[in-house]
Amino acid sequence: MNFLGIDLGTSSVKIIIMNEDGKVVESVSKSYDVSYPEAGWAEQNPEDWWNGTKEGIKEILGRGTVKPEEINGISFSGQMHGLVLLDEKNDVLMPAILWCDQRTQKQCDYLNNEFGQDKLSKYTGNKALTGFTIPKVLWVKENRPEIYSKIAHMMLPKDYISFKLTGSFASDMSDAAGTVMLDVENRKWSKEMLDLLEIDEAVLPKVYESWQVIGNVSEEASRETGLSIKTLVTAGAGDQAAGAVGTGTVDAGILSVALGTSGVVFACDEKFAVDKENRLHSFCHANGKWHQMGVMLSAAASLQWWVENVNSDIEGDAFEKLLSEAEAAPVGSNRLLFLPYLMGERTPHSDPNAKGSFIGLSITHKRGEMTRAVLEGVCFGLRDSLEILKSLNVEVKEVRVSGGGSKSRLWRQILADIFNLKVSMINSKEGPAYGAAILAAVGCGVYNSVDEACHKLINITDTVEPIKENVEKYNRVYNVYSSLYGCLKDKFDEISSL
Ligand code: XUL
Repeated sequence: MNFLGIDLGTSSVKIIIMNEDGKVVESVSKSYDVSYPEAGWAEQNPEDWWNGTKEGIKEILGRGTVKPEEINGISFSGQMHGLVLLDEKNDVLMPAILWCDQRTQKQCDYLNNEFGQDKLSKYTGNKALTGFTIPKVLWVKENRPEIYSKIAHMMLPKDYISFKLTGSFASDMSDAAGTVMLDVENRKWSKEMLDLLEIDEAVLPKVYESWQVIGNVSEEASRETGLSIKTLVTAGAGDQAAGAVGTGTVDAGILSVALGTSGVVFACDEKFAVDKENRLHSFCHANGKWHQMGVMLSAAASLQWWVENVNSDIEGDAFEKLLSEAEAAPVGSNRLLFLPYLMGERTPHSDPNAKGSFIGLSITHKRGEMTRAVLEGVCFGLRDSLEILKSLNVEVKEVRVSGGGSKSRLWRQILADIFNLKVSMINSKEGPAYGAAILAAVGCGVYNSVDEACHKLINITDTVEPIKENVEKYNRVYNVYSSLYGCLKDKFDEISSL
């Protein structure tokens, strides 16, 4: 038996084939563009996602390793929160507004301040953030009324691909939670929210658990992709929940930390729980449980900025050179701190105006300390989410780290020291696509549950333990770090309005 995992990302779609032993036998990736039609806007054409997915499936099948009829199931991981709108002929009405689009501050202010954050939190477990889906729906209503009146179907990015493959309108609990229209605790669309915002439930997809079968590959999709109509399709998950399945973060006590372009701290909860101030997102997990999550907007993106924008003249492997200089610099970077708010910040500050900053520079500082301060600043920013989880009594025993930044042993050690937790790597390198393939395997009955699949397939390959004296030093630095945003917030606003 074989399973196709489709990870519909922001820059590309990645497709893998996993066999029933959990081994990845093929993988392919097809990229597409993001368009930025105005400052702070980010859009993509859903047809580009479908074309990339079709091309990728045809290419992977064309290699002949696995025949179409040997693929038993397909599932998805998808960039979350994007708004896809179709008319009654199922044609796309406008480009999808993406998770990283910032145009909806006005709608968020209305939802959180006038409609009321308390109501939002009561009905959905979350507040409105510019990235989330519901403010995007209000934006279309206010700014594109001619489009709003034609909406027959509203969905999330990966749900457009599952629609193109099966003809069914389906979503899953984890991704639907990020719309702020789902009653996360009771795992169904929130009737109260929909009534108050005058949204007809009929325009929304039916919600399933991530591993549940939503249909088969349709005849039309079979003609377009080469897939067999016998192949089952399951609902899939938002990329963070699918990524957590891919790292085996399915039990309380395990914290998944993604050091990707953005940074994510993700804890699995056995029961629904919500932070009163909604600093963390409270979403459904892809294994039938719940999770709380903090999202930092510039994690590995901070290092990439430092390497590519500031140190672009280094010859050879600039990352390697800068990281080895950082390794030689002292813990705490000789009293230099870096705030990683290069694209504003989501958790915990929800502030698009927050700015990146070096604080504490002196005449003696060299590049190695500055690079190390960037690595440390990202981990301090992630610790902000850990501290909220701890204040909510969420059990945290170990960290599983993934994403491009996790390849650096130095960065993993800094994370272990700043979190005072052991930090492990796992055997799978495929991230959310692997989680998606697991969801397909569960849907096809190879495993009884997502948890069982993860326990069988995912192993720890390397663990870094915290070093006591570094932990103590970093605790002192974190006390300063965590007070800096409050001191600078007004200045960030003033700079933004210059
Ligand atoms: C999660 C989030 C991102 C996007 C894009 O809340 O905004 O993970 O899904 O990757």
